[in-house]
This record gives sequence, C-alpha cells and structure tokens, in this order.
Amino acid sequence: MDTQTRHPMLVEANHDENVRQQFVHNLRLVLAKDISPVNHKIYEKIHKPAFLKENKREPENRHEVRKIMTNDPFYRLYSATQRASQEMMWDSVIDSVEREYDNLHQKADLSPKTKESSCKVNKNFVTPNYHTAADIHLQPGGYHWEKNENDMSAGAIYDRSVFIYAIGGLGNLNDDFGKTLTNYYKENYPKKSPKKILDMGCAVGHSTLPWVDAFTDAQVYGIDCGGGMIKYAHARANYLKKSIHFSQQNAEKTNFNSNSFDIVCSHIMLHETSTSAFKNILKECFRILKPGGLMLHLDVPNTDGMDAFTSFMTDWEAYNNNETFLVTLRDMDWVKETVDAGFGHNKVQLSRTETFLTQQAIKNGQQPTFRTKFPVLVAEK
Ligand SMILES: C[S@@+](CC[C@H](N)C(=O)[O-])C[C@H]1O[C@@H](n2cnc3c(N)ncnc32)[C@H](O)[C@@H]1O
Repeated sequence: MDTQTRHPMLVEANHDENVRQQFVHNLRLVLAKDISPVNHKIYEKIHKPAFLKENKREPENRHEVRKIMTNDPFYRLYSATQRASQEMMWDSVIDSVEREYDNLHQKADLSPKTKESSCKVNKNFVTPNYHTAADIHLQPGGYHWEKNENDMSAGAIYDRSVFIYAIGGLGNLNDDFGKTLTNYYKENYPKKSPKKILDMGCAVGHSTLPWVDAFTDAQVYGIDCGGGMIKYAHARANYLKKSIHFSQQNAEKTNFNSNSFDIVCSHIMLHETSTSAFKNILKECFRILKPGGLMLHLDVPNTDGMDAFTSFMTDWEAYNNNETFLVTLRDMDWVKETVDAGFGHNKVQLSRTETFLTQQAIKNGQQPTFRTKFPVLVAEK
C-alpha cells in the first residue's frame, strides 16, 4: 500500500502501528470502491421508485435524498464504518507521533536555510472560532492545537494521516492539488511568469511545494492558522530542499502589503472556513494582489452539474466529519461573492478540473483513483 515519500520529519510507524495504518488504508479502499457504490444501487432500486410513486416526481436535490437515505440501514452501516475508519486513522498515526514527540522538534531545523525560506510563528495568534468550535475532519485538537511553543505534532499527524485519508490518491508527497493548480495555471496563462506567490491555508506545505517547482525564480509564501503546521511545514520543506516563507497568519487579514502578489491561491481551504471568513478572504486576496495578478482557489465540488444523489454523498464530510461549512459553501454563488469582494465582473470565472494525477492516468490508459471535477475559482485583479 505504502508509497509515501520518506523524509526525516515523517514519523516512522513501528510494526504494530504500521499494521493498524495499513488496515485503515485498506478499509477505506474497500469502503470507497466496493461498499459506497452499493448505496447508489439501493437508492435507484428501492428509494427513488418509492419516492416517485408517493410524490409523482423524483427527489429534487441532495437535501431530499438525505432525508430518505439517512433512514436506510445499509447507508447507516456504511456511514458509521466510514466515520469509524476516520477515527481509527487518526488513532493509528497519533500513537507513532506521541512516541516520537520529543524527537520531532529536535530533528526540525527552524532556521532559514536560504534567503527565500523562513518560519514565523505568532505567539499571540487568535485561532478563528470556525477552527476551535469543532475538530475539522475529526483530527484530535484540530489543526491548531499546540502543547508548547516547540510542538509541531499537529503537522506530523496531518502529514501521515492525509496519505491514508486519501488512500494514497494524492501522490507520494500528497501534492496532487498543488500540481493540479500549477498545471491549470500554466495551461491557461502560458505567457505569465509570476514572481511572488502566496498559498493560503498551506498546512504542512503539500500543495505549496509544486509552486516552487513550477516557478523556480519566484518567491513562494505559505500561511496557515496552525502554528504546529507552519513549523512542521518549514522543517519538511528544508529536508525536501524547497525554499518557502512560511508564517502563521489568518488569511482573512494578513500582514502583507497591498498590491504585492502575482498569484494568491489556496487548495481545499475555503470549505473549512465560514460564510464571513469566505467573504473576508476574497477581499484580502483582492487587496494583496498586484493589478493583473491572479487569485486561484481550488476547492471541493460544488453542486454545479451534479445529480442529487452524488451531491448528497459529497455532503457526507459535512455531516459526519466536521466539515460544517461545506453545506453552505456549496450553495453559495462564488462568482457573485468574488465580484462583491472587488474583482471586475468580467474578470471572474468558475471552471472545473480533474486532478493532475487523474489526467495523467487517463493519458496513460490507466484507471484513475478519483474521477472528480474540482471547482477552480479564478479572478484577475
Ligand atoms: C484541508 S487543509 C488543506 C491544506 C493544504 N492547502 C493542502 O492542499 O494540503 C486546510 C488548511 O487551511 C487552513 N486554514 C483554514 N482557515 C484558514 C484561515 N482563515 N487562514 C489561514 N489558514 C486557514 C487550516 O489550518 C488547514 O491547514
């Protein structure tokens, strides 16, 4: 199963932990490939016809499908097992990180390695309430929990767990979203050569590193709410020989100068914020972009062009995995919000893309792990 790229910050599991991690990985694979599709069959064969008979129409949207399916015993078993797999995933990784806890910060060199790399943690940082209210995707302590100023365990837990969470589908450096967006940018804006790039909500830098590789003479910045994420991201990037300026900041209000970036982007961050934060972040992107600069946010699928059942299944994370804002975000008009944030109406578009690895697999005639089209919100200042 395991092809995650090793680096000194990635905590090695011992034999028993490794077996538990492999079990969760395989359980999630079976759930995704074999069990989850049965829900659709049950819906098509039993629930949709029954609804049609009673109401003389099909269920119109994901909310109606949800009312039906949450009473179905098979769906309930699937959902409970999916949730259990999520909890088991964190548990299986946390044991390794706790064992290595004292070694982690000793291995991490937080000094700048080049003039284009740094790590700034803000001791007075106030974590937004959309992070403190619930542990997002059930990571115990969330992205932000720190026992002391050396603590980077949140980053260590996240790095390993995301590989299992995505069943390895984000690549061996968990960097598929970053590769997807850099690839999208290069294909659509081949004449631009950005010199200053900001990745908002960078976590441990999985999606930030591809920007360094794609634009070798650009300065790359990454910000995140989690201090443990930022410290770990910096140490990880140092070992992987990538220069990035990491800092602990809220994307709603950063300390960057106005008109200073060629690109401001994020990868699967927006759905973990809130309605007011979403609006504030768009405004902040507008403020810090240079005229002619581009904002690009890749996020989880919205409802556009999706049938009611698939849309209901996409909401699973919101109702069962503490991605609470997801339901609201999917119903919002992203383009209107972007225009309200200051961008010109004719400068905003919402397009969709399959991930880089999916595109590669299709090109090579292989079966891709995911066939999801992710929305990309793009706006030029
Ligand atoms: C799902 S993770 C995505 C991480 C990363 N972008 C990637 O592609 O691997 C979302 C990250 O966004 C961060 N985040 C959420 N709201 C934020 C905000 N207002 N400001 C900065 N970071 C934020 C979280 O702390 C978390 O690390």
